[in-house]
Amino acid sequence: MGKMDIINLLRDIVREEGIGTYLVGGYVRDKILGIDNKDIDVTVEGNAKRVAELLSNRLGVGIKRTSQFGTYILFASAYRIDIATARSEQYPSPGTLPLVEPGGILEDLSRRDFTVNSMAVPIGTDTVIDLFNGLNDLKKRLIRVLHGKSFSEDPTRIFRALRFAERMDFQIEKITMSLIEEAIEKGFLSKVSTARIRNELTLCLMEKKRWDLLNRIAKLGIFKQLGMVYPGRNFLQELEEFAIKFMIEPESLYFIAFADGGKNRNFLTKKETKFLNSIEILYKKIPCLKKKEKREDIFTILEGFPHPSLIYIGVKMSIREKISLYLEEIEPVRLEITGNDIRGMGISNGKEIGEILRSVKRKRLSSSLSSKEDEMNYVKEILKKNQDNDI
Ligand code: CTP
Repeated sequence: MGKMDIINLLRDIVREEGIGTYLVGGYVRDKILGIDNKDIDVTVEGNAKRVAELLSNRLGVGIKRTSQFGTYILFASAYRIDIATARSEQYPSPGTLPLVEPGGILEDLSRRDFTVNSMAVPIGTDTVIDLFNGLNDLKKRLIRVLHGKSFSEDPTRIFRALRFAERMDFQIEKITMSLIEEAIEKGFLSKVSTARIRNELTLCLMEKKRWDLLNRIAKLGIFKQLGMVYPGRNFLQELEEFAIKFMIEPESLYFIAFADGGKNRNFLTKKETKFLNSIEILYKKIPCLKKKEKREDIFTILEGFPHPSLIYIGVKMSIREKISLYLEEIEPVRLEITGNDIRGMGISNGKEIGEILRSVKRKRLSSSLSSKEDEMNYVKEILKKNQDNDI
């Protein structure tokens, strides 16, 4: 199933049903630029649900999601098809989600972010509806807002403008740029929910030119305004490289870096908050770790810490070699004995069993134990010592 097959199916539906249906937004922009876009954005004047249902039947795929704004999302082959109801929007205050009412295509185009994203092509035609000279801006490679309130109404568009400019190598038009600076200065971004900010940053981090993009975001003072830290592209690149080496998803680590030492942690997930808490404990252990060379000592210090925290501290404190040694050669060492063997020796307390296993592992790492028998004997020694101490 190719893109044209999907669009032809839509054309048939539109002919049969007589519903005003348009290709819009990023799809039209990228089509004109000759960029392959796997998202097909469709706007329907009226019954978007009907169009989505008919298309879903003909494609033999389900409607995957529906959004609060009456958008239906379908996936077919490599494509994601967004079918939205044409709407007008009103923003009660900066940063909040808009109040939405069904409208015509002209209203729908007028509520959009930039001229290059505000064009529509009625399905089954080659006509471009271009109310705001988007074609001209595409030619001049310019990102331009439709009106002066665009960023105060929806400050997430600041990220969008920077993202599009970096991705397509466009300039941000002068007035648009000054509106961005003004919106930042007035603190509009701090009125946006942390979930939406996180989503925008995640999208930025998915861009090919993400490091240039983040530098630009930082230069505009956006991180600072959000109470976040920008640790610089080199650090983030190194972090990414080190994380991938150990098959850790880098996204969480970028966000931990944006939170480490900053005032705002609200954008972290629960898991990331836990990682950052253990990073803070690790910071205190690093001076001691730096002095240790023996495997059993490195084990004693790093044992039990989550891998993402270790990766982060490895880059942050320039101790990648030691962390690699721990992750590659120390942590994976498995003992011959198990907790059950110790239980069989009359110890039932789980905590005590754990402590004994750790001691055996330390001993094993110092390479003086090499068989199950050695390990068992060492456990006996520990138990005897414990008994003597009790007496
Ligand atoms: N849009 C908007 N304001 C926003 C988000 C989206 O006006 N804050 C409009 C734009 O017209 C955009 C369309 O909704 O083209 C679809 O949004 P989205 O899929 O997020 O953007 P795309 O332009 O398709 O960009 P991308 O290539 O990054 O998906």
